[in-house]
This record gives sequence, structure tokens and C-alpha cells, in this order.
Amino acid sequence: MSVPTPVPRPAPGAPPRLQVDGLTVAFGGLTALDDVTFDVGHGEVVALIGPNGAGKTTAFNAVCGLVRRRAGRIALDGRPVPRSTVGLTRAGVARTLQGLGLFDGLTVLEHVLAPLGRAPRAEASAAALAVLADLGLGDLAGRRVDELPYPVRKRVALARALVTRPTLLLLDEPAGGLGSEDIADLAATVRRVADGGCAVLLVEHHVDFVMGLADRIVVLDFGRVIARGTPADVQADPAVEAAYLGVQAAS
Ligand SMILES: Nc1ncnc2c1ncn2[C@@H]1O[C@H](COP(=O)(O)OP(=O)(O)O)[C@@H](O)[C@H]1O
Ligand SMILES: [Mg+2]
Repeated sequence: MSVPTPVPRPAPGAPPRLQVDGLTVAFGGLTALDDVTFDVGHGEVVALIGPNGAGKTTAFNAVCGLVRRRAGRIALDGRPVPRSTVGLTRAGVARTLQGLGLFDGLTVLEHVLAPLGRAPRAEASAAALAVLADLGLGDLAGRRVDELPYPVRKRVALARALVTRPTLLLLDEPAGGLGSEDIADLAATVRRVADGGCAVLLVEHHVDFVMGLADRIVVLDFGRVIARGTPADVQADPAVEAAYLGVQAAS
């Protein structure tokens, strides 16, 4: 298995891979995030869950520098987060977006080569083909993504994130639109990546998917953290059930 590459473990007492402290984001009069604090350790899978509109994608975007924060601090290994895509990649950060973000007309291989822009060609090809093989996409390298079914395209988006061998992987609704078999594969892949030392922040709408996967869960509702802890803690928390039932009752 060539993905993930084991990364050196941090020294004891070192800062977490990702630290989000007192994050507040507002869009005009709407406070999308209000004083949100959480962290993700090296090799840990942390899931940010909550009903639609809870602020999950906004938190994700704030970590990537895509939205401006009104207050709070975000740090990678205790250092500020680079703003540019190239800077993020260099800092070991990779992400998949809530939408696929793929380009019709480009092949699977072209997508996975793109983040390796400056690497020597042979090296880039080897890395791309290795990650494709790992994700069961080896036979599809030359296929145009628009010819492929949705779950396969979703996997291409994940391959494109993994090809840079990130040490912080941000996934926004990776299970969205997938059936149970693909979700099980995805969970196994994410766990494998984390076991290689990568910190994973998973943003999800669906509670079930993360229960068997996440080490810790942070629950957002209307931009605030309403619960946090192990999957068992969160599942037993009446505030979590109320938040999800509240959304169902309203729709
Ligand atoms: N760019 C934006 N401009 C204005 N409002 C936004 C913007 N992005 C998100 N929001 C609002 O912020 C809240 C949180 O949205 P979002 O982070 O997308 O939630 P989630 O990902 O949990 O479904 C929602 O009320 C949403 O309408
Ligand atoms: Mg979202």
C-alpha cells in the first residue's frame, strides 16, 4: 500500500496539527460561526457534524482561508495558515470540496497530476498512478471524468487530494450522494490515511457515516458548538438529537 506515506510523529507536547480557537464568521448580519473551538491531532479523524446551515462548510472555508473571520485564531502545528492554494499544499494541507470541483473533458489522470504541477514528470506520474491504483481507479486513468458515474468521480476528487500526501486532509461531505458500499470503502480509506499520521477533518451532514469512523466529533448547530466528544458521547447527547429532529420538523 503506497498511500499514505508514514509521516514523522510530533514530539510530545507539540501543538495539534490543526487548532481552531474562538472562530467567529459573519455574513452581513448573519453570524454563521460563533466562538467555535476545536482541534485535530496528528493521525486523528475529527468530524464536524450538524444540520444543514449549521456552519460546517463555513468552518472548512475559514480553515482554508476562503472566508474572512471576524474573530479567532487558526493554526497549523502552531503556525498561521498559508492563504494561497500553493502555500496550503506546501504546508501539507489538501481538501475536497462539497461539490466535486472536477473539470469535464479532463481525464482522471490529468486531475490527479494537476496538484503536482512542479514535480518532475516521471515522479509526478508515478505518484499519480500509485494513488489511482490505491483507490481502485487504476484502470480508469485515461477516462474523461464526465464519462464516469458520480461515486467514481467523487473518488477522483479524493485521489486529487491524496496525491500530494497531505498531513492535514479536509473533506467536506465526502459521503454525500454515495451508497452504503462506497461509504464503507471511503471510511476504510480515510482511516488508512489517518493511520499514516495524517490529521483528517471531516465535515458531514450524515451522523451515521461518522459514528464508526471519527475519533472525536464536534456538533455544530446555528454556528455554535452544542456537543463534542467520542461518537458514543455525542450519540447519547440529547442536544444533538434535538438539533437534528428540529431540522426535520421544520422541513
Ligand atoms: N457566502 C455566504 N454569504 C452569505 N451567507 C452565507 C454564505 N455562506 C454560508 N452562508 C450562510 O451561513 C450559514 C452556514 O452555512 P454553511 O456553512 O454552508 O452550513 P453547512 O455547511 O453546515 O450546511 C447558513 O445560514 C448559510 O446560508
Ligand atoms: Mg456544507
